[in-house]
Amino acid sequence: MSNNNKIAVYPGSFDPFTLGHLDVVRRGSKIFNKLIVAVAENNSKNSLFKVSERTQIISDVLKKEQNISNKVEVKSFSGLLVDFVESENAIVVLRGLRALSDFDYEFQMAGVNARLSNKFETMFLMSSENQQFVASRLVKEIHRLGGDVSSFVPDLVNKFLNKKNN
Ligand code: PNS
Repeated sequence: MSNNNKIAVYPGSFDPFTLGHLDVVRRGSKIFNKLIVAVAENNSKNSLFKVSERTQIISDVLKKEQNISNKVEVKSFSGLLVDFVESENAIVVLRGLRALSDFDYEFQMAGVNARLSNKFETMFLMSSENQQFVASRLVKEIHRLGGDVSSFVPDLVNKFLNKKNN
């Protein structure tokens, strides 16, 4: 594969998309020629936003990122991640890694995906120090209980969260 065709897929539920996710997108897009943010459709978790809403919100957030918007695409996918990654000709699955508690889950997922396909590698970016504690699950809970999540999510996501309440 030529050097200017390094495509990475950054998959997740992104429910909602946080500043931690944005940090991974910003940093990942400096490493790869193209970064596809892949919003998972078939997730067993009870989601706050529909996949179409999540995809649209993330696209809108990333449009404002002038330095990277031409390198980043947002797509939804259903079915197996490995199939999506192969269909995009990506060579890397990118994931953010926070504390030790993420490790088991990520280790298992990377292992399963490696067994299913040898066409890509899973790579991790350690969370930036100021995003270590940001997690969609906690953002949802804080928001549901009436707390302020504006320091955890992009402004646009905060607006959509507040709209959900009205
Ligand atoms: O943000 P999340 O919820 O930690 O992301 C998990 C995700 C969506 C990347 C993972 O559940 C996934 O890849 N789902 C697609 C279905 C699949 O391929 N499952 C087998 C590998 S875990």
